[in-house]
Amino acid sequence: MLAIDRLSRDDLEETAELHHRHLHMGLFPKMGKGFLRHYQDTFAESPYGIALVARDEEGVLGALLGTTWNAKHYRWVLQHRGPELAAFGSLALMLRPHVGYMFASSRLGRYAKGARRYLAGQSDTASPSSTGAPLSVLSHIVTQDRRRRCGVGRQLLEEFRRLARVRGASEAVLVTEEGGLGAPFFERIGCECIACRKGADGRSVREYRLKLDRTLRHDERLSPLDRSHALVRSDFHELTAARVFADAHGINTAIH
Ligand SMILES: CC(C)(COP(=O)(O)OP(=O)(O)OC[C@H]1O[C@@H](n2cnc3c(N)ncnc32)[C@H](O)[C@@H]1OP(=O)(O)O)[C@@H](O)C(=O)NCCC(=O)NCCS
Repeated sequence: MLAIDRLSRDDLEETAELHHRHLHMGLFPKMGKGFLRHYQDTFAESPYGIALVARDEEGVLGALLGTTWNAKHYRWVLQHRGPELAAFGSLALMLRPHVGYMFASSRLGRYAKGARRYLAGQSDTASPSSTGAPLSVLSHIVTQDRRRRCGVGRQLLEEFRRLARVRGASEAVLVTEEGGLGAPFFERIGCECIACRKGADGRSVREYRLKLDRTLRHDERLSPLDRSHALVRSDFHELTAARVFADAHGINTAIH
């Protein structure tokens, strides 16, 4: 029977493998499974993180990582797990010089600046979701390819929604690759597309917003009208939220 649990350290081997195999956006998957285990564990340990695993009798079927207050989560990670991540990250980059070069040329300066800002307490802790509540971010969701379209992703997301809501978040944002498996899934369950742009590696990405105060959409399909309406929405708060999120994830936006 399918169960959704909090991710534990015993799950990290399998969840890092899933992450490495199916999620290719950004730098971290390129740094290998060892680094991903440490990275995923920060979501499980942080008081502002949510780390979930879906499993049945056969093992892990999927995983979800997110935050309930993004700025505070990254500050917590820097303060409590920063040295460990830096050590394992440096090792991973030394073993993969081409990824190290990519990191140095595209992210090192930005990460250092961000780290200084977070540690100095200058980051935007009153994170600008469109409601003014803390900004929650759904960072990663992945399911086993042999068990897709069976409701595993939906159940992971429903539990994320419930937990984030209990912790005071009213909406979450997420970014997924244009043309990937994420976009149709997020649209199906009722997320609203609020921006389209280029990611740091030049790929087109879409940003979505998920309202946490209502259960995920089940039966009705998005009409073409809904879809085009969703795509042109982009008010001040949404752009600011997008910028904070992109910053935290090292994604280039047209604003930068
Ligand atoms: C995206 C992903 C997590 C979806 O997981 P899943 O377990 O297949 O999702 P579910 O079965 O719960 O699907 C929920 C709904 O979305 C629909 N859906 C899921 N994937 C879809 C797709 N590719 N195209 C159209 N509809 C899709 C399902 O049919 C289902 O609709 P229903 O409940 O009305 O029947 C999975 O495809 C995956 O791991 N992809 C690779 C990693 C990835 O791209 N992650 C997203 C970026 S972070």
